[in-house]
Amino acid sequence: MTRHIGILTAGGDSPGLNAAIRAVGKAAEGCHNMQVIGFRDGFRGLAENRTVRLSGGALSGILTVGGTILGTSRDKPHKMVVDGEVHDMTDAIVENYRANKLDALVCLGGGGTQKNALRLAQRGLNIITLPKTIDNDVAMTDVTFGFDTAMGIATDAIDRLHSTAHSHHRIIVVEIMGHRTGWLALGAGIAGGADVILIPEIPYDVQSVADAIRKRVRKGRGFSIVAVAEGAISQVYYRVWKDITTRLQKAGSRQEKKQIKAELTALEEKHQDNTIHLGHELEALTGLEARVTILGYLQRGGTPSAGDRLLATRLGTACADLIANKKYGVMVAEQAGQAVPVALDKVAGRRKQVPLDHPWIVAARRVGTSLGD
Ligand code: F6P
Repeated sequence: MTRHIGILTAGGDSPGLNAAIRAVGKAAEGCHNMQVIGFRDGFRGLAENRTVRLSGGALSGILTVGGTILGTSRDKPHKMVVDGEVHDMTDAIVENYRANKLDALVCLGGGGTQKNALRLAQRGLNIITLPKTIDNDVAMTDVTFGFDTAMGIATDAIDRLHSTAHSHHRIIVVEIMGHRTGWLALGAGIAGGADVILIPEIPYDVQSVADAIRKRVRKGRGFSIVAVAEGAISQVYYRVWKDITTRLQKAGSRQEKKQIKAELTALEEKHQDNTIHLGHELEALTGLEARVTILGYLQRGGTPSAGDRLLATRLGTACADLIANKKYGVMVAEQAGQAVPVALDKVAGRRKQVPLDHPWIVAARRVGTSLGD
């Protein structure tokens, strides 16, 4: 009997999503005689039953296309805004899953999507996920698709920023995405030859950064490239954050917790402009002009790299094979070059940070890069 698969893409868009949709769809249809439908805009389209048939023609010509042909959203099944109010749409999702006679639902997404997918698996749906994000912060997989492309974009940007840095003898501070981890900034920073790389995993001392820049000036290198992860924090910020979160853990009354949470929110909102502020600080401390570039969504745009196309195709086809073997409640991870199913409850709720002894950290230090500590 023909089996039916649903696919959705959720969370931030990323290069490689369409390559993954194509791989799941072509393998499911071509190798396993399954029918495949897509749900629009992540979990919201599943809750609203907005579908599109993904057969033959719909999967042609999308390998190289950026973004997601299905659309995406950051909507959560259990906390979805409908007509201005927050609703738990899980029952509607379960109903639509049954109404479409699905044998399995494939969710392509990052950390948040893995959590939402696990919740649906715990409601009895046959769920399988793929690890997507430019941040590379999904646990239990060596790498996520989207990361390689974003690292290439950020590296190219750093290469280009060297021109203005050495022409004007300036400090160029470039902010790189990565949410609360430093994978993207560290990888692109090393590949682009940044002189300083600041990542969330290593709170930085701005005096140490200024010293590294001044040391370069004394050696006749009157410019510096400072690659800053968007989640990077100073040691001063970390101490304040640690104090607030420790008090929050010890807080007794609801009123006290509410007040301390407001302090934390104010601190995190102030951190939004951290990279701009860092540029001003370094200019004041070194006497060099500083300019700031925030790469933002350029890092998520355009055609996926060859590496991401290959990774998405390998994981997507492995996903179809696992469905054929009725292996559910797993994420298809990349481990040591193999597509490996890992239990969703081992992935959800965990973030993969950069280990302080990671080979990339060691290599950066070996070539004299300052990590701000
Ligand atoms: O998770 C990918 C990512 O690009 C992060 O690097 C970034 O912090 C976040 O998404 C931005 O979220 P949004 O697309 O909702 O603005």
